[in-house]
Amino acid sequence: MYYEIAKNDHGLPYNPLKACVVPRPIGWISTMSKAGLVNLAPYSFFNLLSYDPPFVCFSAGVHTEDKAVKDTVINIEETGEFVYNLATWAQRDAVTSSAMIVDRTVDEMAAAGLEPLPSRLVRPPRVGGAPVHFECRYFKTVELPGRRPTSCHKVVFGEVVAVHIEDDVLTPDGLIDVLKIRPIARLGYKDYAAVDSIFQMEKHTPEEALTPRVAAE
Ligand SMILES: Cc1cc2nc3c(=O)[nH]c(=O)nc-3n(C[C@H](O)[C@H](O)[C@H](O)COP(=O)(O)O)c2cc1C
Repeated sequence: MYYEIAKNDHGLPYNPLKACVVPRPIGWISTMSKAGLVNLAPYSFFNLLSYDPPFVCFSAGVHTEDKAVKDTVINIEETGEFVYNLATWAQRDAVTSSAMIVDRTVDEMAAAGLEPLPSRLVRPPRVGGAPVHFECRYFKTVELPGRRPTSCHKVVFGEVVAVHIEDDVLTPDGLIDVLKIRPIARLGYKDYAAVDSIFQMEKHTPEEALTPRVAAE
């Protein structure tokens, strides 16, 4: 099938777009308002962009009910700081419940039943129980035009200035044990994925790929 965005003529019962880029990692972003109130929300338009130095970005729409800019963006632009927390299967319910709370006067980490852990270089706390955290400094915002007032997005970029990895998710060889962490990711519709299997590949030439390989003993 083929459809054009301007016509939205996919003819399917649900818009397939988000299901076309999967799985999308979830940036579970904690921030603090100027007044010191903690905010927490998941963003699946999120990724790590570079590594020396590392930058991350996430894309926030406006709240569809009132077209309000999301608190995460307001806080980051006002304070210049945020924390990325890795979302896992064990904390999946807290991830979704932190997306529900929109009242700016509520401490969303406490409301989601999560323990705040202090950060070292930035003020927003880290989510207790999350196995990985990045402390980030705000870099810039790029605004993406929307076809409707409710579909414009603010893409927020931040530089990672510190990384926390819980010791108990490191293998004896010093690798992050992804199968122990079980990260969750967004698919399309209401679907999510958990990382429950991994495989390894070596880089190879096309010729090598065509050469039959001898099965391992
Ligand atoms: C798994 C998940 C992923 C989400 N990803 C995004 C996203 O990429 N962009 C966005 O604007 N909202 C996203 N949302 C919705 C926001 O989390 C929600 O609007 C939240 O209330 C924003 O909170 P804030 O106003 O405190 O920043 C997502 C929700 C869930 C449950």
